[in-house]
Amino acid sequence: MAPPTSSRPPAEPDPPTLSPVRLQDLRGRFPIVQNRIYLNSCSLGPLSLDAEERLDSFRRLWHEMGASAWYEHWLARLDELRGAVERFLGAGAGEVALSPSTSVALSSVAEAVDWSQRPRVVTTELDFPTLPYQFAVKPQVELVVLPSHDGVGIDPEQFAEAVDERTAFLATSHVFFTTGFRQDIQRLAGIAREAGALSLIDGYQGAGQVEVDVRASGVDIYTTGPLKWLCGGPGLAYLYVRQELIGKLEPRITSWFATRNPFDFDPTGFAFHDDARRFEMGTPALPTVHTALGGQAIIDRVGMPTIEARNRLLARRLEDGLQAEGFSLRMAADPAQRTAIVMVGHPHPAETVEALAEERIIVDHRPGYVRISPHFFNTEAEMDAVVDALARLPR
Ligand SMILES: Cc1ncc(COP(=O)(O)O)c(C=O)c1O
Repeated sequence: MAPPTSSRPPAEPDPPTLSPVRLQDLRGRFPIVQNRIYLNSCSLGPLSLDAEERLDSFRRLWHEMGASAWYEHWLARLDELRGAVERFLGAGAGEVALSPSTSVALSSVAEAVDWSQRPRVVTTELDFPTLPYQFAVKPQVELVVLPSHDGVGIDPEQFAEAVDERTAFLATSHVFFTTGFRQDIQRLAGIAREAGALSLIDGYQGAGQVEVDVRASGVDIYTTGPLKWLCGGPGLAYLYVRQELIGKLEPRITSWFATRNPFDFDPTGFAFHDDARRFEMGTPALPTVHTALGGQAIIDRVGMPTIEARNRLLARRLEDGLQAEGFSLRMAADPAQRTAIVMVGHPHPAETVEALAEERIIVDHRPGYVRISPHFFNTEAEMDAVVDALARLPR
């Protein structure tokens, strides 16, 4: 039987540039890039050989051991993933919970506060809808959806004006999914704290493309997951809750995984876990636990300074090339607020995405835009190829 692929010491990250040899080596870990120009990591990160090897080990153990693999291997994989994510996010031990989706992670937090004194939630029209939806369905919540004045970002002053002593959550994204605009979460955390509210950051489009240090940023709650920029597949999300807050939150939706002694199987003995596991909502998707560990290993190996620097370089090349071809881009005026989600104004986004797929270029669309999201394994030549292809297609 193959030994479990756990507890390898984390490799030293690369310096903030990648040599051509190192880049080729990394590209060799992602089979899809051998056949496609893959530019849709903000929707679904590609499957790596690292993730596949982890998945194979899971499949093998399932065949060979059945349920006893739980005790000898798989419970340890859950701890391994929580630990890896904690290190990656700059969190402390016991501050990260595994959740089935961002929506579930958000709802367990939204079900853990007293709404009577603070019924207000401040969010924005640029957030991914599942964030405001968690609050829109609660009749006791007064939901404020801030408008974007430029259609790209939100001025932090808008939060400062709207978040008050009746506000429970300042709830918004780290990076907006349709504009790539990166918010200053440290500043937002400060605005919430000053009003006695909690900062709740949806980091699904943040972690993995921009550096995150949850502790240094001072945010109270940060959600993300392996699906996109962490190249770890669908079926899981991560929930960070600041240590000092964990003991104060008791969600009104729960599971046996949230209890201190789940394996006592005592129906009369409910007691919340002391750490972030109190937010967990049942048996996690084990295949994804494995693919997430594989994806995370590559991200950690390359290191966020390198990934962020490369993604900046690739995105700038795309922006320059597209603007030279006369395309209009939906992006922040300040390059420091841009990320690797590049929105290209287009009269026929769906048809164009289909035509590009026929040329083996994988991108996505949102109303009025073709959405292109390169990641560290992409090359500058691939940026030029998608610009050329877009310039050739009808518009
Ligand atoms: C910013 C953001 N939040 C959340 C989600 C998804 O939430 P869930 O995990 O509940 O499907 C997405 C995209 O799928 C997203 O882009």
